[in-house]
Amino acid sequence: MNDHEIFINMINDNLNEMGDTIDCLYTTSNSCVKNKLLNRLRKNMSNIAALAQGLQNGAGANSPQAGAGRMFTPEELSRYNGRNGNPAYVAVNGIIYDVTNNAAWGGATHFGLTAGTDVTNQFASCHAGQPVLSKLKVVGKMPR
Ligand code: HEM
Repeated sequence: MNDHEIFINMINDNLNEMGDTIDCLYTTSNSCVKNKLLNRLRKNMSNIAALAQGLQNGAGANSPQAGAGRMFTPEELSRYNGRNGNPAYVAVNGIIYDVTNNAAWGGATHFGLTAGTDVTNQFASCHAGQPVLSKLKVVGKMPR
């Protein structure tokens, strides 16, 4: 998959998340929940704007998702385990995300999962349809 295709996929991911969020908005009358959902929509919109800018720049270096094109092997990913000062990366659906500074991945672990691994299946069973990945920086890809 080339950078252009990765960006298009990420735009589609954000659009899908927005569809899910709008569905939730129809069903809630709680103003606090509504505000949270509207903030999510804003976040997706700014992601899409940034990705579109990246595509316009040819997925160039100044897009926020710089580095998305770097290829990892499972062995290389395993070094990014968040230990000994190393960053903490995880793979989901062939895309590498940086969870180093994400509070839910404190100590480079998350509900028994450890960084430096492919967590595609666990993501599907725990967060399907949730706007979680759009909060993480993309740092590369890994063939599946
Ligand atoms: C064993 C399966 C999993 C369970 C039970 C689980 C559960 C949870 C729960 C309860 C939260 C919200 C509470 C918190 O902030 O700590 C959360 C947040 C999060 N999870 Fe998972 N998770 C799982 C797998 C994954 C996987 C595979 C990823 C891969 C990227 C992931 C990424 C995240 C992220 C980034 C957040 C923080 C979202 C934010 O910043 O608001 N989780 N998870």
